[in-house]
Amino acid sequence: MSNSPIEKISTVRLGTEGPRIGVQGFGAMGISEFYGDTDEAAARDTLEATVEAGVTLIDTADIYGSGANEEFLAPFLAAHRDEVTLATKFAIERRADDPSYRAIRNDAPYIKKAVEASLRRLGIDVIDLYYMHRRDPQVPLAESVGAMAELVQEGKVKYLGLSEVTGAELREAHAVHPITALQSEWSVFSRDVERSAVPAAAELGVTFVPYSPLGRGFLTGAFADAGKELSGGDFRQLQPRFTGDNAKTNAALLEPLHKIAAAHGATTAQIALAWVQQRAQVHGLTVVPIPGTRKRSRLLENTGATRITLSAEELALLEPIAGQVAGDRYPDMSSTSAAREQ
Ligand SMILES: NC(=O)c1ccc[n+]([C@@H]2O[C@H](COP(=O)([O-])OP(=O)(O)OC[C@H]3O[C@@H](n4cnc5c(N)ncnc54)[C@H](OP(=O)(O)O)[C@@H]3O)[C@@H](O)[C@H]2O)c1
Repeated sequence: MSNSPIEKISTVRLGTEGPRIGVQGFGAMGISEFYGDTDEAAARDTLEATVEAGVTLIDTADIYGSGANEEFLAPFLAAHRDEVTLATKFAIERRADDPSYRAIRNDAPYIKKAVEASLRRLGIDVIDLYYMHRRDPQVPLAESVGAMAELVQEGKVKYLGLSEVTGAELREAHAVHPITALQSEWSVFSRDVERSAVPAAAELGVTFVPYSPLGRGFLTGAFADAGKELSGGDFRQLQPRFTGDNAKTNAALLEPLHKIAAAHGATTAQIALAWVQQRAQVHGLTVVPIPGTRKRSRLLENTGATRITLSAEELALLEPIAGQVAGDRYPDMSSTSAAREQ
């Protein structure tokens, strides 16, 4: 292993009033669930590498591992509280006796209970960035964002965020209380947010936090063989883009990424991450993508992407890909912003 010091990534301001944070964040979800088994020691070492590399926005949610992901982060936060901007989320209810059960809860009493449970599991006094994970259109945004704003007044939360909302919903929420961050899927494969959410965030000074910027790993080129690499229990086995003919079609779409990566002496993952940063510049927007990994070496590979600049010709090669992707982002798209835009 090399002993050379790790180069820290550059920083940007979170929203208009927030702290300066690393221009790339870290998604902790896969440590606890969804993408196969985790080696705990390797995952702890990966977390340590975040602060070493200047990756300070750490992203979790109360549903990841049904609370286990927040609990996993607690010792890390105890050691690094001042260096980390901790983001978590509420709104997706699960049940211990029914693993497939999911309900979206945006009502004020649910929010008040959820924040207490997250604070307890994380072992902290205040959540830096608290997101509503999914939107239930039956509950007025004024009620949900009003309840979230009370958490700010009570000192339990510093900044508010939303996930998977449309541009119109972002504007409506922002009028109730300033929204600091919008987290939605955005990658070379997933660009529906560019229709309304991205322009609204740019206009309002809301930081965009692209989730699954590596297309849940697909954009790294690891699924060339029709998704056969997926082990039992990996939830990507149910993802339309990873299965059967779709996986084959989508793997072929990565050819320009591989070519550009070779030209830069970079990896395909790095080119995918560099693309999100540069695409955001076109929209006049600050982004802090949150790729997830359980491995230190990949975390450092991913931060290296912040130092890559793609040429106009390279960006043009990547431009048509999203329109050719086979399969939706989720097996059930009903709770996404895209569904409410149609
Ligand atoms: N708001 C929402 O609704 C929502 C939804 C999904 C995710 N998220 C958040 O966004 C974060 C990131 O999204 P994501 O984890 O779904 O997808 P992602 O970051 O696009 O991809 C993660 C996958 O890529 C692999 N990977 C990462 N870096 C790699 C590299 N350099 N080379 C090869 N493989 C690499 C990881 O495997 P290894 O672990 O084996 O490296 C993992 O399987 C999550 O952790 C979560 O915090 C939010």
